[in-house]
Amino acid sequence: MARSVTVVVGTQWGDEGKGKLVDLLSTETDLCMRFQGGGNAGHTVINNYGDFKLHLVPCGIFNPDCMCIMGTGTVVDPQDLLSELANLKQHSVAIDNLFVSDRAHVVMPYHKLLDKVEDDARGVYRVGTTGRGIGPAYTDKVARIGIRFHDLLHESVLRDKLTVVLRHHNALLTHIYNQPPFDEAQILADCLSWGEQLKTRIVDTVPIVRSALHSDKTIILEGQLSAMKDLDWGSYPFVTSSSPTAAGAAVGSGIPPRDIDRIIGVAKAYSTQVGTGPMPTELQDAMGDHLRQLGGEYGATTGRPRRVGWFDTIVTRYVAEINGCTDISITKLDILDTLEEIPVCTAYRYQGELITELPDPVLHDKCEPIYEILPGWQQSTREARSLQDLPRNARAYLERLAELVQVPIHSVGVGPERNQTLII
Ligand code: GDP
Ligand code: IMO
Ligand code: MG
Repeated sequence: MARSVTVVVGTQWGDEGKGKLVDLLSTETDLCMRFQGGGNAGHTVINNYGDFKLHLVPCGIFNPDCMCIMGTGTVVDPQDLLSELANLKQHSVAIDNLFVSDRAHVVMPYHKLLDKVEDDARGVYRVGTTGRGIGPAYTDKVARIGIRFHDLLHESVLRDKLTVVLRHHNALLTHIYNQPPFDEAQILADCLSWGEQLKTRIVDTVPIVRSALHSDKTIILEGQLSAMKDLDWGSYPFVTSSSPTAAGAAVGSGIPPRDIDRIIGVAKAYSTQVGTGPMPTELQDAMGDHLRQLGGEYGATTGRPRRVGWFDTIVTRYVAEINGCTDISITKLDILDTLEEIPVCTAYRYQGELITELPDPVLHDKCEPIYEILPGWQQSTREARSLQDLPRNARAYLERLAELVQVPIHSVGVGPERNQTLII
């Protein structure tokens, strides 16, 4: 098979069903890499091994012939990674193929505490983070005081770095946030223990990627979250601290942009969001509660009820453009099965004017959605196994979304199981 590099990205606010698609595609994949983020992700995979919510480990892990890597652009809590691996092993999943880039950053206990107290201090600009220490870990990376996985294997380097970083964070925690300080000796001991337990998995990814690219391997770059939570392109400041876009995939995996062949944007057939930030199509009424129940829309990482709304083609078209999506995968079509009518947002009204471009978040928050109402199909799609099996109105709904988003459809999800994806 010819070499192929596919990036899977979210096109809304996260939780579109990226994990399920990556699990399916990984059955024929040699290398699966996460390129950004950390334990904030919650990727649900349901297959023969069981029902999993993967926070850190790439969803290719269920294929024993697929090498899985936490890429250089990720931030990883070693203790959480060890627990996730132990759980997978308990379910008879082969975990020997999981590696972590030596350049990936370590999420420390102080990052998790800082995440909480800093978010509480943001007032009306509170992000509602997942509390997994993501923002503070990336802040240390950018400030050039972060600890990398390679450091876990070098005690003297660790000692020197920890002294600097803890002096800084302990001052902040005790003086600004009234929290107890972290003990340097304890953190050093934890780091050395994590290094010892993970040493065979900490690798330089450059030769691995080079060899994969030169030997016609199939590669998937698994994004978490979506461009609407991208640090540059999302609803700043209600965003995460990394770039979950296709461009971010190149940076975070070390795969040159010109080697990327396909960019699949994953979009739910309606919208959800966890955390704060603009969402013009949000339903804060009984219909919203109904859709949340139908879709089981509760956060995979925090268990929080997800905000729910109609499909917003302004958002997904913008995200598809930013990412250069070659394909789109529509998930959870089955959740709309019982509805008589399905509104789709095709424009916004802002101060009396019609807008079809995504505005700045400050204005986005005040936009009123303009809907096109499409007829429902009111029959189950869950047993469908090809596009032809879908009711006519369901096909018309999909065609209209593809037309508005301006990207052809790659696949359609009609249920949470691996075999409930129709590849077009
Ligand atoms: P991710 O973060 O993008 O991987 O998505 P999550 O796993 O957080 O959320 C997606 C949820 O929808 C999970 O509970 C999946 O099991 C479920 N899911 C994914 N695709 C489908 C689908 O096509 N139909 C239904 N009913 N559920 C789906
Ligand atoms: P997956 O990969 C949904 C949201 C948080 C918050 C913002 C920043 O499952 O799609 P962070 O903890 O990253 O500093 O939080 O991003 N968020 C997610 N929402 N799914 C996720 O991951 C998320 N990861 C972060 O709720 O609004
Ligand atoms: Mg998720």
